Amino acid sequence: MLTVKQSKLLTATGPGTPMGDVMRRYWLPALLSWELPEPDCPPVRLRLLSEDLVAFRATDGRLGILEEFCAHRGTSLWLARNEENGLRCVFHGWKYDVDGRCVDQMNEPTPFAEKIRLRSYPAVELGGVVWVYMGPADERPPEPRFAWTQVPESHRHVTKVLQESNWLQAFEGGIDISHVPILHRSLTTSSAEGYATTDPFVAGSDLRVEVDPTDYGFRYFGVFALGPDETYVRAYHCVMPFTQIRPDKRDRVYGHYWVPVDDETCMTWNWYYSTTDEPLADAERSEERFGNGPGDVDQNTFVAHRNARNGYMLDRRHQRERNFTGIEGINAQDRAVQESMGRIVNRTREHLGPADKTIIAARKMLFDAIQTVQDGGAPPGTGASHHAARATQRVVPNGTDWRAAVLPDMG
Ligand code: FES
Ligand SMILES: [Fe+2]
Repeated sequence: MLTVKQSKLLTATGPGTPMGDVMRRYWLPALLSWELPEPDCPPVRLRLLSEDLVAFRATDGRLGILEEFCAHRGTSLWLARNEENGLRCVFHGWKYDVDGRCVDQMNEPTPFAEKIRLRSYPAVELGGVVWVYMGPADERPPEPRFAWTQVPESHRHVTKVLQESNWLQAFEGGIDISHVPILHRSLTTSSAEGYATTDPFVAGSDLRVEVDPTDYGFRYFGVFALGPDETYVRAYHCVMPFTQIRPDKRDRVYGHYWVPVDDETCMTWNWYYSTTDEPLADAERSEERFGNGPGDVDQNTFVAHRNARNGYMLDRRHQRERNFTGIEGINAQDRAVQESMGRIVNRTREHLGPADKTIIAARKMLFDAIQTVQDGGAPPGTGASHHAARATQRVVPNGTDWRAAVLPDMG
């Protein structure tokens, strides 16, 4: 349980808020590279940490991320012309370069452009994603070279979906292990519907959750008894401030980022990659099982087709016969339960138990990070120690040290 004040401390990320100051110490995924496909393409509007921004790719290929509104009289630069290495406001022709400097004013007989500058943020492009850094210049962390961004394009995949809730709700839902074999349960042996009845996730019992603090957040483990002889272990990472890295049965590692758009909306990023020489298959890229692919999410607005307005297309017959929720798509199921709590869940009324260990650990991690930043320090995960982090899962014989068995595969 949190007090109203504690909940607000973690959920509010706008300019000048304590958690906003923490978030601004990391590179944030802002856009998919294909949203800015070529030099001089149309600018894209985006909202991050309650700030309205506009992004563009200049004639020379450089990326610009600026505050959205023109310094003259506030016109949105989403309407602007992207031409000759700058965005030109269509109202009176003031033009801005990628650093936000005003370089031309079409309506002034005696231009004073050199006095005008829009707020701008540095951007880098890695893994098919445009990342932005919105914090103090002298605190900028190393580029976010997560392992998945370092493999060839043929071996990685990334999408995003808008979630209609505060970021913390999405994050806490994502790192919550005990819901997985319940919310995502298939009622059949088919894994197309979720975790099949034969999956060790569902067939296992006595789930125990363990957390190991690290210098970037924590590692966590779901340990399931599989009868008298074996134990099933799922090994994850939680990386400051909003990253989950999770295992898959094939040679894949998956992950999410839950990035605040504003205090009532977040962007869920979904990525995964092949850890071997084998490239990803086309069928994997559709993300049908998760409900995150182009068939399930509008690729202009990034709103999922299954959403609160249509009850997530919940089918009660499907719920009786095929899966636990009656909703198709594992991550659509996540969005449904998390959004159903309201935009910001009332944490004064919750009752956490031992199964919620990761949620308790994450809140501690975030409160500590706020304190560290307020004391003038660098929060965890602003180094590069976690860039090679990997997740894994394994069945181990009972009596062996399961931690020693999975740690070498965790990067
Ligand atoms: S409002 Fe942009 S140039 Fe006047
Ligand atoms: Fe889930």
